[in-house]
Amino acid sequence: MINCKDIVLAIESSCDDTSAAVLVNGLLASNVLASQKVHEAYGGVVPELASRVHQQNIVPVVSEALRQAGIEKSDLSAIACTLGPGLLGSLHVGVSFAKGLAIGLGIPLIDVNHLQGHVLAQFIRENETDPIPEFPYLCLLVSGGNSQIVLVESTEKMTILGLTIDDAAGEAFDKCAKVMGLPYPGGPHIDRLASEGNPTKFKFSKPHIPGLDYSFSGLKTSFLYTLRDNIAQDPDFIKNNLPDLCASLQKTIVDILLDKLEKAIKQTGVKSVAIGGGVSANSAVRKGVTDLCKKYGITAWLPKLKYTTDNAAMIAVAGYFKYKRGEYCDLSIPPFARVSI
Ligand code: KG4
Repeated sequence: MINCKDIVLAIESSCDDTSAAVLVNGLLASNVLASQKVHEAYGGVVPELASRVHQQNIVPVVSEALRQAGIEKSDLSAIACTLGPGLLGSLHVGVSFAKGLAIGLGIPLIDVNHLQGHVLAQFIRENETDPIPEFPYLCLLVSGGNSQIVLVESTEKMTILGLTIDDAAGEAFDKCAKVMGLPYPGGPHIDRLASEGNPTKFKFSKPHIPGLDYSFSGLKTSFLYTLRDNIAQDPDFIKNNLPDLCASLQKTIVDILLDKLEKAIKQTGVKSVAIGGGVSANSAVRKGVTDLCKKYGITAWLPKLKYTTDNAAMIAVAGYFKYKRGEYCDLSIPPFARVSI
């Protein structure tokens, strides 16, 4: 048993990953994740199945996180859980479990906004010496459901400077992958295939949206029309051009993301930029953001790949900050499917 003051258990169940993490005095002691393979057969996450698998996974995942951290339940100071946004049924599993544990142990419950978790993922530290960003910084938050540029002024003050008016970057990857016959989620497959392709072979349309907002629905349509027109000439067009299609699509998505990010860097004059969310695992996004930061002489903060997708470590960090501020949550609070950062 470890005899420490601040031990936070965090639970994440907003979509199709069940995850639990333990933070001891602000440092990560464990982070356990059970992904759900069941959705692959359906080409997307099936909400009802996701909730059922969360129910099966939650007890073993939490037990394993405590075991790996060498913590007994009675050692815990607080329980943090993702309250939203996400799939309501999935959120209910994690939130109800966290509430039950908090009541049973007589310790505070802390609600965490999933998007704030992604934005604060740079603060996941395994050792005291791990570096963390200084405020203010910009975070390019790119996932299956979100594409936004956030100005992060403190652990609690975050302002959305721009966000997608239709599809998210991850959706653009996944939907275009689907029409090429690639498995779900398509983003990682496109990333892998793009490494062998020519990124300038095909041109797809880019949006002309004022300000710092994003749009990806036009690109999706332009991609579909390119396939349709070329398949009319060559039925094997996709098979014969797969790496080039992936590389060109990826380049277009990254160009769109970086164009607005560069504008935001100029507007805010920040000294560092972080990225977060599933799409921040993309190799071209990581390279593009690194190069952009070099151009402006500022620091790029790239999360470890294991912290790009949904994970409880980032929820633990965001929850720990609230715990230190004494921001506890009422036990009657329900999860929220849609909630802004
Ligand atoms: O943050 P996340 O795990 O959860 C949701 O928002 O649902 O993000 C998942 C998204 C999916 O769209 C997936 O295709 C995308 O992240 N993704 C990637 C890569 N890895 C995951 N997209 C492009 N390249 C990748 N390497």
